[in-house]
Amino acid sequence: MAHPAWWLVNGDLDQQGPGSDASTLRALETLAELPSTPRIADMGCGPGRQTLALARATGGHIAALDLLPPFLKRLRTRAEGAGLADRIALVQSDMARPPFAASSFDLIWSEGAVYNVGFEAGLARWGELLRPGGLAAVTELSWIGEPPTETLAFWQGHYPEMADVEANCKRAERAGYRVLDHFALPHSDWRAYYDPIEARAAKLRPRYADDPRALAAIGHQDHEIEIFEGSRGSYSYVFYLLRKD
Ligand SMILES: C[S@@+](CC[C@H](N)C(=O)[O-])C[C@H]1O[C@@H](n2cnc3c(N)ncnc32)[C@H](O)[C@@H]1O
Repeated sequence: MAHPAWWLVNGDLDQQGPGSDASTLRALETLAELPSTPRIADMGCGPGRQTLALARATGGHIAALDLLPPFLKRLRTRAEGAGLADRIALVQSDMARPPFAASSFDLIWSEGAVYNVGFEAGLARWGELLRPGGLAAVTELSWIGEPPTETLAFWQGHYPEMADVEANCKRAERAGYRVLDHFALPHSDWRAYYDPIEARAAKLRPRYADDPRALAAIGHQDHEIEIFEGSRGSYSYVFYLLRKD
């Protein structure tokens, strides 16, 4: 269980990972073969930034799945506020065992979340939920250049499975997909995630000055951001746009 300070820093942010509506829409535009009202599953939806963007941009129905009830509750409030609640079904479940029938979706979406079950394993499991010829758009933290030593050491410690784009394309193929396209999220998508975290951490640090565990939780975020800014653009989340073979 994360320290409560982690939840105070991150818990009610509108997005729980790097991304933007512009990147979500860019990925969607690549998937031109969708029906006019696609059936979509959004795995690890969190508070639903991308869920809302997908609902606005398509006439589709979205099953928004996440393990954590507070995120689903927040998405419900946002969907109701945006008048989109009738097209977004909230599903509390483990993304490794999604409670959906085979072939029940035209599109599987997942931003910043498949790492929880592993890129290849997640894609393979979710592929069973897609109709033949169904599509998938999934982001995965990926090497896109030569990392400085400290960057490499940090991510080898925190996410040893992290691979480059070529290796991830091979993983997607092994999981039963054809790679249609891929692109790396821009620096601004990371700042959209990190800027609110930095602002919140600055407010919380004095309040938790006597709580070493809380300060450590806040410091962990600071360190991740330092690593990112010192990484010379050697990694990013990459959108993989896929078609089930
Ligand atoms: C980094 S956040 C990304 C959330 C959202 N897609 C976004 O970009 O704002 C990862 C999400 O995966 C969810 N999650 C983690 N493990 C999960 C699991 N086994 N099954 C379902 N959701 C899970 C977390 O609760 C969290 O909402």
